[in-house]
Amino acid sequence: MDVNLRKTLAHVAEFYDQRKVGERGALGFRRSSDLKTLADCAGILLRHGIIIPGKTLFLDLGCADGRVNVILSYLVRLSAGIELDDWTLDEYGQLRALLEDELDGLGLPVPPENIRLFNGDSSGEEIYEAIKNETGAGFEDFDLFYTYLVMHEEFAELIRAKGKAGAIFMVYGVDRIIPRYGGLRLLALSPLAGSIAVYRKE
Ligand SMILES: C[S@@+](CC[C@H](N)C(=O)[O-])C[C@H]1O[C@@H](n2cnc3c(N)ncnc32)[C@H](O)[C@@H]1O
Repeated sequence: MDVNLRKTLAHVAEFYDQRKVGERGALGFRRSSDLKTLADCAGILLRHGIIIPGKTLFLDLGCADGRVNVILSYLVRLSAGIELDDWTLDEYGQLRALLEDELDGLGLPVPPENIRLFNGDSSGEEIYEAIKNETGAGFEDFDLFYTYLVMHEEFAELIRAKGKAGAIFMVYGVDRIIPRYGGLRLLALSPLAGSIAVYRKE
């Protein structure tokens, strides 16, 4: 990874990590991934071919304000997300505008135009038709799925049933006990940074 990209990812991580949601209070269901952790794992994901720049199609199942999509957008071809709550998804545009101002000021590149976020239910069928209509990518085309331990069992089953062979599922927020799912093999590099389990569909 070149120095400018590393610096950009570090800045994007810092921007969002200063604005974490759900650490305290009533929004616990909306807890944000720690983006510094993801930025720190980017090199290993690239080295293992889990992310192939310009090729990988990425989908966050429960993307909230799209922050994981923003950081991944620098590394993948398509950075798509699905969020159930429209009011949560609405925060994406405002945060992105603020981030772009900061990046511009620092002479760092703004996120590429490959982010597509959808309001809907990741466990339903209809949303995947909408995604395919807009991006050309169906569920079976995505290479990399992500979730923050929300409905991880349902999403694992969806990937087992409908994902392509070789598709990767990253589950953020695991601790000492790492979940196992039928049809998905836990990769030995797990847990990344002690908190991300990585599985490959057989
Ligand atoms: C813990 S947050 C994680 C947000 C983001 N992926 C991250 O890691 O920072 C989980 C989000 O998933 C959403 N969610 C829960 N069930 C969902 C479903 N079936 N379809 C789409 N979004 C869902 C919640 O509304 C919430 O915003």
